[in-house]
Amino acid sequence: MSSINHVTLKFRDGKETSVAVQQGESVLDAALAAGAPVLHQCRSGSCSSCTGHLLEGRAGMRAGASSTLLKSEFDAGERLLCLTEPQTDCTFSLNYESDVGATGAVKAHAFVDSIEKIATNVVRVTLELAEGAWLDFRPGQFIQVRVPGTDVTRSYSPSSTSADMPKIELMVRLLEDGVMSSWLENEAQPNDLLEIEGPFGNFYLREKVPVPHIMVAGGTGLAPILSMIDTIRRKPGRKPPVLLSFGCATPDQLFGIDDIELRKHWLPQLDARISVDRGDGDEYLIGNPVDALRVDDVLHADAVAYLCGPPRMIEAATHRLTELGLRPENIYAEQFSPSN
Ligand code: FES
Repeated sequence: MSSINHVTLKFRDGKETSVAVQQGESVLDAALAAGAPVLHQCRSGSCSSCTGHLLEGRAGMRAGASSTLLKSEFDAGERLLCLTEPQTDCTFSLNYESDVGATGAVKAHAFVDSIEKIATNVVRVTLELAEGAWLDFRPGQFIQVRVPGTDVTRSYSPSSTSADMPKIELMVRLLEDGVMSSWLENEAQPNDLLEIEGPFGNFYLREKVPVPHIMVAGGTGLAPILSMIDTIRRKPGRKPPVLLSFGCATPDQLFGIDDIELRKHWLPQLDARISVDRGDGDEYLIGNPVDALRVDDVLHADAVAYLCGPPRMIEAATHRLTELGLRPENIYAEQFSPSN
């Protein structure tokens, strides 16, 4: 076996780059050293930003490394490039254009504008970028926020869009004893200064498709989906039909219902189904947002889906949508796992 393997990275826009990967080196490290615009953030297997799809060759995950990649995703050829070591020459496809990672993340300061509890376990946090600061992101990408007075950072996908800048809106799930949750609940005040960094992530609204969009969101996974819906709404031209299936565990944990209603007024092509796992009455569907998907939701051969929520929901939604006929390459997903 050669101690150097040659890896070809194919971007969605057809551009390709080749990098030499030394034995023991990860594909991501070699790609970044060569200046390839590969998306990344944690470099430790937890953020999924560096996902690539193995097309040719053999490449495994670094021994002993833990990652967010599901076994079914690994078996289907998905790899986290920060933990991937090629065993032969390989080719990976990257499901984003080569210009997405070219600009890179920036650090900025932002002031807390408001903090509003919108469900028993969710707050809406509005930030305003400091004078002269700018941080561009695509709808669906995430930013990191440092908890003041600590070295701890947390990742959030804005529910707002770049068009709302300098305001940035986040939906933050409150966790018992969570570092950010405790700060938000006990200390945070309007005008507090935060350090933020971004954008990160390969989960973002692909631009050019006027085809049906299926959005499946669990919990605060709603935030990037709202950003995507607002972007679709604001774009000139014909709007695609958009189905949003959103769910929380119980009615007291539901939030964003007014936000969704407002968007239905603004975007008549938006159909929304709201589910709770447990609850009484007929106000909401009972079950999870995957249960709410129907056979006739996937009638268009080129329909696309955006999934954001807990790993189990992503896995179930991916399975259900492919079963209904959606092409696997048209499914984009972001897992939201609580960090504590
Ligand atoms: S960079 Fe975060 S999983 Fe690879």
